[in-house]
Amino acid sequence: MYKYLIRPLLFLFDPEKIHRFTFCWLKFINKIPLISNLLRSRYFLRDKRLEREVFGIKFPNPIGLAAGLDKNAELYTELSNLGFGFIEIGTVTPKPQPGNPPKRLFRLVEDKGIINRMGFNNDGVEAITARLKKNKHVIIGGNIGKNKWTENEKAHEDYLYCFGQLAPYVDYFVVNVSSPNTPNLRSLQEKEPLQKLLTLLQEANGKLPKSKPILLKIAPDLTDEQLLDIIDIIKQTQIAGVIATNTTISRNGLTSPKQGEIGGLSGKPLAQRATEVIRFLAEKSNHGFPIIGVGGIHSPQDALGKFHAGASLIQIFTGFIYEGPSLIKKINKAILNEK
Ligand code: FNR
Repeated sequence: MYKYLIRPLLFLFDPEKIHRFTFCWLKFINKIPLISNLLRSRYFLRDKRLEREVFGIKFPNPIGLAAGLDKNAELYTELSNLGFGFIEIGTVTPKPQPGNPPKRLFRLVEDKGIINRMGFNNDGVEAITARLKKNKHVIIGGNIGKNKWTENEKAHEDYLYCFGQLAPYVDYFVVNVSSPNTPNLRSLQEKEPLQKLLTLLQEANGKLPKSKPILLKIAPDLTDEQLLDIIDIIKQTQIAGVIATNTTISRNGLTSPKQGEIGGLSGKPLAQRATEVIRFLAEKSNHGFPIIGVGGIHSPQDALGKFHAGASLIQIFTGFIYEGPSLIKKINKAILNEK
């Protein structure tokens, strides 16, 4: 029903406007107690065999929502009712910021992709923390970044601030240095600044009553040499793992007329490269740390491919928009059938 009725209707409208509309609608219908229970029983597959313990957290199933969809932690309970085992909020910055001017979100329907140049639009860590205080049972990842106006030399202060504010309310952290939409952010992926940033975060982590797993989210556009550096840094700083990958700046193999838009490309065209990065990291590190695999998962086959390449958990964003919420249950069923 989603693919043949709901999606064609939603895709008639501007992507960002329809995103807001769908959020309001989901929020509204979930307020009706019977409906939220109904949604959960229809979409959320509970089975002991789907449970995973990764970096000390017990996940009810291995499929999460990737960062960027619920940036402001407005809808994590409702989204979890649709079957996700965990929800990543953010990217969160210390102060609220509007992001880039619209239009900044484009569907590449012919390629089953999206290009976005949102630019970390978010309500800021204070407002987002207030919303997370109401969380009852959802496993939350806190994806953190820096404000646009913060110089890279001072970026660590932004990350540390968000880390400190969010720590009581999230289960794991993601250090996002891989978005292509904040000027110069990706140069924080270079060896020296990255080592410094992760070391400082781990120091702060050590001072918490109970330390949190910190993961690094990386771009798919890194070279093999840079990926080897990442493995070294993870070993040295002892962070918990990696999320591979963020959106790409590559435009290889696209047919859509919107391919010229500036921003990060997600969805089907990213799938193969994201899987290659996962496999490379898993093999070269000798499966030394957990990897959350993300990028172009639109089918159970795509999902299994990420697990076979070495991912312990996966996340979805664009596939959820194109295929609808039933995709999550389908993947969970495929995992059970594989056993
Ligand atoms: C994203 N993504 C993203 N990632 C991140 O770490 N912080 C963010 O704020 C955002 N924002 C964002 C907005 C939009 C509109 C999209 C489409 C994507 C990247 C996302 O989490 C994921 O890594 C990629 O989209 C690849 O996965 P999919 O979309 O191919 O499943």
